[in-house]
Amino acid sequence: MFIHDKVDDQLVQDVLSRKHQIEYSVHGLQHWQRVERNGLFLSEREGGDDLVVSLFALFHDSQRLNDFEDPEHGSRGATLATEFYDQGRLCISEAQLQTLTEACRDHTESIYSDNATIRCCWDGDRLDLTRISVIPDSEMLNTATAKEIADTMDYSILDRYRSYSR
Ligand SMILES: [Fe+2]
Ligand SMILES: [Fe+2]
Repeated sequence: MFIHDKVDDQLVQDVLSRKHQIEYSVHGLQHWQRVERNGLFLSEREGGDDLVVSLFALFHDSQRLNDFEDPEHGSRGATLATEFYDQGRLCISEAQLQTLTEACRDHTESIYSDNATIRCCWDGDRLDLTRISVIPDSEMLNTATAKEIADTMDYSILDRYRSYSR
């Protein structure tokens, strides 16, 4: 289901089983998969921790209560990631957990970050705004690679990296 080999199907299933929403959601599994794809594409080019990027994709929207107003969903996603870490389910260091939880917690409120990994996480999420017919504004993106995609509107480069149906 996920690209990163350390994010195995069992882990994804276990996070899915903690999800609140109905099966179909614009913030559901298919969105998580595209956020991972986008984030890994960016981290390859921009430098970033690929495992943290993949785990951000898995957790960041996992605790949404609805598809509309839910400002605390990032914090709840960070809490769930910490719970999995405490159970020994995530093969990451404490420093990686710190980055992961910050990325999840702040992904709706903050726009810019100095952390290379978090920049890839947030841009990967925002590049998937096209799923709801919103064209990402390059001013709201962190990385040069994501800005170029937004400016040229050439999203096919992401699909060539790995294609997902919408
Ligand atoms: Fe979100
Ligand atoms: Fe998202």
